[in-house]
Amino acid sequence: MTNYNTMYEKKHDLLPQSPRWAQEPAFYHIRTYSSTRARAARLPALIAAFIFASITFVFFTGTGPDMSSTPVTQTVPGNVHLLIPASGKDENLCKAIVGAAVLGYPSPKVLNWGKTFNDAHLVSGGSHIAKISGVSSYLESLSPEQDEDLIIMTDGYDTWFQLRPETLIERYFDINRRANERIRRELGDHVVSTNKIEQKIVFSAQKRCWPWAADAAPCYAVPNSTLPEDIFGPDTDTDVGDRNPYLKFRPRYLNSGVVVGTAGAMRVMFTEALNRAKKDPNFGSDQNIFGSIFGDQEVYREVVRQRDMSWTDHISLRSEDPRRGSIREQDLEAVRNMTRSMEFGIGLDYEGSISLPTVFSEDDTEWVNFDNTPWVDFYNVKRNIDKSQNKLVLHQDIAKTPAPFHSNGTDDLEAKEWAQVPLFTNVPTGYTPAIIHHNAHRDGMKNLRRKVWDKIWFQPYARVLMDQYMDTPLTTLAVAGGRQWRNSDEWKGGVRDDVGAWLPYQDVCGGTEDEVFRDGNGPWIAQAHA
Ligand SMILES: *[C@@H]1O[C@H](CO)[C@@H](O)[C@H](O)[C@H]1NC(C)=O
Ligand SMILES: *[C@@H]1O[C@H](CO)[C@@H](O)[C@H](O)[C@H]1NC(C)=O
Ligand SMILES: *[C@@H]1O[C@H](CO)[C@@H](O)[C@H](O)[C@H]1NC(C)=O
Repeated sequence: MTNYNTMYEKKHDLLPQSPRWAQEPAFYHIRTYSSTRARAARLPALIAAFIFASITFVFFTGTGPDMSSTPVTQTVPGNVHLLIPASGKDENLCKAIVGAAVLGYPSPKVLNWGKTFNDAHLVSGGSHIAKISGVSSYLESLSPEQDEDLIIMTDGYDTWFQLRPETLIERYFDINRRANERIRRELGDHVVSTNKIEQKIVFSAQKRCWPWAADAAPCYAVPNSTLPEDIFGPDTDTDVGDRNPYLKFRPRYLNSGVVVGTAGAMRVMFTEALNRAKKDPNFGSDQNIFGSIFGDQEVYREVVRQRDMSWTDHISLRSEDPRRGSIREQDLEAVRNMTRSMEFGIGLDYEGSISLPTVFSEDDTEWVNFDNTPWVDFYNVKRNIDKSQNKLVLHQDIAKTPAPFHSNGTDDLEAKEWAQVPLFTNVPTGYTPAIIHHNAHRDGMKNLRRKVWDKIWFQPYARVLMDQYMDTPLTTLAVAGGRQWRNSDEWKGGVRDDVGAWLPYQDVCGGTEDEVFRDGNGPWIAQAHA
């Protein structure tokens, strides 16, 4: 991929004055990615070379490389936007910003920046509804041509980026591809195409259904986990009591801390969420809202399955339709009464490969050095992991991305591969999440955000990696889902606020450097480069 990417490499000026993208998203879009005729003229030649190379490869090896199954069909690259709702200075926000930067994610849009939440009539002074309305306004500001852009949204104060955007983006497309096959199998082709059912939004999954009762749709009506039924041993999906009754449950329920989706699908979902939040100002949390929407979607899918099932499905299911009866009649009726589509394209990341919420997984995770073979073997034996699919090995979609450390010769960095750095990994499932969501709270575990900050691979070198990041031109983030994925922002070393104004790192994170960098070297100031 590398030489294919270099044509998009671009010197970019730090801190130009007018945030054009905020006022004219379409103009910004065009300017960024079809900027010069010369570049545009080279594109067909490069695509031809790429296709030729793929075909040659297939011809000589007999089997295609992975990319041949997902050819680059859309020539206009898509943009990736990183949204982090957060209202004020906080070291935890800065840990997310630094991680995102050193890994090469787009500069975040920090939404609700500077807002205060003290409306006594609203839950948490209105901060939960603001998370929904802030993101919703951003999505409304994008033009319809950007509907297939990708949005990554993370909670502001407890998420750490760990793996490159390429890994996250490929996993997003892979999760959706497998989910869409599953949905087609379960609902039938006719129902799926009549109702345009297609998964486009992936939320984190967690082990406990919260905050609803077990017999509410967001709990009982949602699909089963796709993880193996014995993933946590013989006690899988049973209450093991003690300090952590949910420990052995496979994640099956929505967690709203991290979500990835297309701009178009997310806009529709956030509009619904905002309407629900306004109707019931005491809704509790955004997770409550998104979970309810997910529950209604699953009920709705059963409504349309019964309504639009093809006559061949009717005949083959006449004697036995196991799905019929799985959803209570009263819930089906409530969704029918809504008289609008409850299909939002929502699904979950059961494997925790995009994001792992640590709550109820407290005892599943380890910092794994994959090149430490004796340790990895020991864990595979100790945890009785003999299934090849969840054996502890460094996943290929991590290993193939640019190495965590490379040296330019003068920066005192030792080059290291992914197998040589500690990666926070779910040992029973074998998945290393792209994003760690530190939401565990048992026994004061929220303090892990301080206690284990120096364990994440980039922390001890964060300052020099930030400098390296500023020195490195932006490149294509990934080629996935038939498309090239690019950075939504050509500026780096800071964030944007709700109106698109650029805030240099120091403005947002000044005062947090002792905790974030832990090197006593004072503020980190972005150096401007021509
Ligand atoms: C989910 O799993 C349970 C227990 O294995 C099973 O009884 C149920 O039918 C499954 N539900 C669906 C929708 O597959
Ligand atoms: C659906 O609408 C009908 C007619 O308005 C009403 O009688 C019924 O109670 C509603 N059902 C539910 C579950 O909301
Ligand atoms: C190497 O990187 C460091 C940190 O980014 C920078 O200060 C230095 O100038 C770079 N050296 C070269 C030779 O590019």
